[in-house]
Amino acid sequence: MGTTPRAERAIARCRELALCTEVEGETTRTFLAPSMHRVHELAGGWMEAAGMHVRVDSAGNLRGVLPAANSDAPRLLIGSHLDTIANAGAFDGVLGVVLGVGLVEEMVEGTRTASPSGAPLPFAIEVIGFSEEEGVRFAKPFLGSLALVGELDAATLGRTDRGGVSVVDAIRQFGLDPNGLPAAILDDSAFAYLELHIEQGPVLESENLALGVVDAIAGQTRIQLSFTGQANHAGTTPMGRLRHDALAAAAEWVIEVERYANHCDGLVATVGKLDVAASASNVIPGQLSASLDVRHASDAVRNAALDHYLAYAASSAAVRGVTVTQATLLDSPAVPMDPTLSALLATAATQATGSLPPALVSGAGHDAMIVARRLPTAILFLRSPGGLSHHPDEAVLPGDVEAALATGVEFLHSLRDDRAMLERVTARRPRSRREDIHA
Ligand code: HGY
Ligand code: MN
Ligand code: MN
Repeated sequence: MGTTPRAERAIARCRELALCTEVEGETTRTFLAPSMHRVHELAGGWMEAAGMHVRVDSAGNLRGVLPAANSDAPRLLIGSHLDTIANAGAFDGVLGVVLGVGLVEEMVEGTRTASPSGAPLPFAIEVIGFSEEEGVRFAKPFLGSLALVGELDAATLGRTDRGGVSVVDAIRQFGLDPNGLPAAILDDSAFAYLELHIEQGPVLESENLALGVVDAIAGQTRIQLSFTGQANHAGTTPMGRLRHDALAAAAEWVIEVERYANHCDGLVATVGKLDVAASASNVIPGQLSASLDVRHASDAVRNAALDHYLAYAASSAAVRGVTVTQATLLDSPAVPMDPTLSALLATAATQATGSLPPALVSGAGHDAMIVARRLPTAILFLRSPGGLSHHPDEAVLPGDVEAALATGVEFLHSLRDDRAMLERVTARRPRSRREDIHA
């Protein structure tokens, strides 16, 4: 599919937002970092120019609404996250927000030019740029979408970052009022959620496909383990039972994490962080914290792996007189996407591109797994060139962006033109809120 100005514009916008960073020379934008103000200014400006009513909620989510003619109309959410990992690429999360705005621009343009396909929508569209999905600053992901579904609990609000700043203080320091968090919660006019996101893996590229539709998000567990031994003199402490080397215990465990996952089909397990306290070359490591990230499409397989990993950590520690404690930071079961909405998305992609997109399991987590607790949810994947993501060289192809926009337009038009389908998709909300969508 050839590229079009709208695809090029979307990519340019992502690259412009990538310059909003807290680390010079790379893209690093964590929860409510000062650089997020500039993101809200830029993306909020595009939203306003498209005729959307824009606000930033108390969790720092950027929220733009294109109202429908009927003020009581149901609302479709389209979104993704605006925060990044450290030294990120330009498209993870951000692309979904930029494409959401792009789809609103297409709808508004169609209505303005009274083009045949430009009939007004019988539902409103809210584009959401979530404030925090990666979990970098507070080691807890999905703060923005948890606020949207009313699950940002006191324990999470009390978590502190490396500088001792709590989530609630970070909200205040950004200029927001945590007392407004209840107003961030979805009301029941919302009827569905669509997320457009890069695949972040090699599947679509290996099949030379532009788009995929996610049928489930793999279950994932993130645990922080703490290995505590005894710091001591590296030169005077003999090897063996007098040493309590926390790093040696952890290192043996890390190798087992990899070995077990290599022999378990579909399991991915990663120790992404090892922080050794007060490390020095002539000191036996006495204390360290290690992250563990375990994912699989089957919850049973994931839980069996977790049991094995925690038992192995305890044994590799015990033989060294080291103790291990753990804190679970995220334990999310596999989340199936809504079959009706996903089928509609696949049909839209087929109409837009001429080929039926494959169904994929997402190994990456997404805000969709949280929003799916409240709304029928679907995800459209775009090919990741080189299968690369969580890396500065992360990319998208302009032709694939165009295919995604064309698919999104088809999806919105099919919800607009097929009232029975819209009835079916909105049927999940309490009847008291079933507005007259036959406006
Ligand atoms: O790590 C993930 O699953 C996502 O990129 N936050
Ligand atoms: Mn990510
Ligand atoms: Mn993401």
